[in-house]
Amino acid sequence: MKHDLLGLKDLSADQIKHILDTAGTMKEIVLGPNKKTPHLQGKTVVNLFYENSTRTRLSFELAAKYMSANAANITSSGSSVAKGETLIDTAETINAMGTDILVMRHNLSGAPHSISKLVDASVVNAGDGMNEHPTQALLDMLTMIEHKGHIEGLKVAIVGDIYHSRVVRSNIYGLTKLGAEVTLGGPTTLMPMGIDKMGVKVYDNVHEAIVDADVVMALRIQLERQKKGLFPSIREYFRYFGIDEQRLRLAKPDAIVMHPGPVNRGVELSTAVIDGDRSVITNQVTSGVAVRMAVMYLLSRGGF
Ligand code: CP
Repeated sequence: MKHDLLGLKDLSADQIKHILDTAGTMKEIVLGPNKKTPHLQGKTVVNLFYENSTRTRLSFELAAKYMSANAANITSSGSSVAKGETLIDTAETINAMGTDILVMRHNLSGAPHSISKLVDASVVNAGDGMNEHPTQALLDMLTMIEHKGHIEGLKVAIVGDIYHSRVVRSNIYGLTKLGAEVTLGGPTTLMPMGIDKMGVKVYDNVHEAIVDADVVMALRIQLERQKKGLFPSIREYFRYFGIDEQRLRLAKPDAIVMHPGPVNRGVELSTAVIDGDRSVITNQVTSGVAVRMAVMYLLSRGGF
């Protein structure tokens, strides 16, 4: 039986902890001098990306190569997708070439779930529409554990464009299962109806959300997903919802600042905060390679 990672909604707290423990070990390999292990020797990993990506795609590719897998990338532009081939036909074509792990990013929520039913390969969701981005939340949690020692009892404030964010949904599932308190803050036009039912506190501003937070996570304003004028201007957004050093003083003195990237500098975070000593954004990127190594290794060994 094959195993997938489609979202954190479907995983138990113990399964999430098992991935994070394994990722902690993998991180030693990523930071060590010899980045070649036999964990995925003889396996083939294909990255199928219908949306742009730097971090996720490269880290899956490096993770596969560090573990001695054959790794290949395919994007919608430059492939037969641009000639009109359907997602199903493309996925079945990749599957027919002996792929063991299919890593997928797609603009439609649920696309990896549908493809999983058609292919023999293990499917990893690398971001589906506005639904989930499970490996991003896992790397965020690994980074929090490294800086804070634990997840349980942490106050994690997630601020910005909640509505369009698949990162926030995966983080809410993961963080609440591991016992963190999650608060959300942002403009009401970017706050989905009913999100409070996911076990989080919701504010229509940033300052109340980040008071006494251990972790302040800013989300990217997804300009590519919104043409509706959901806030007046970028300058107004930063003034009322951006995190600068003054606003950050509302959080705990040792609070860390996170962002999934790519950052719109001076919009979600000021440059001083991005480059300041409380920012752990580059550590998140390193954790991303370790988490993707752990996920693919565990999938190849029978799941979580
Ligand atoms: N955080 C994230 O998914 O970044 P990329 O779009 O660069 O992969």
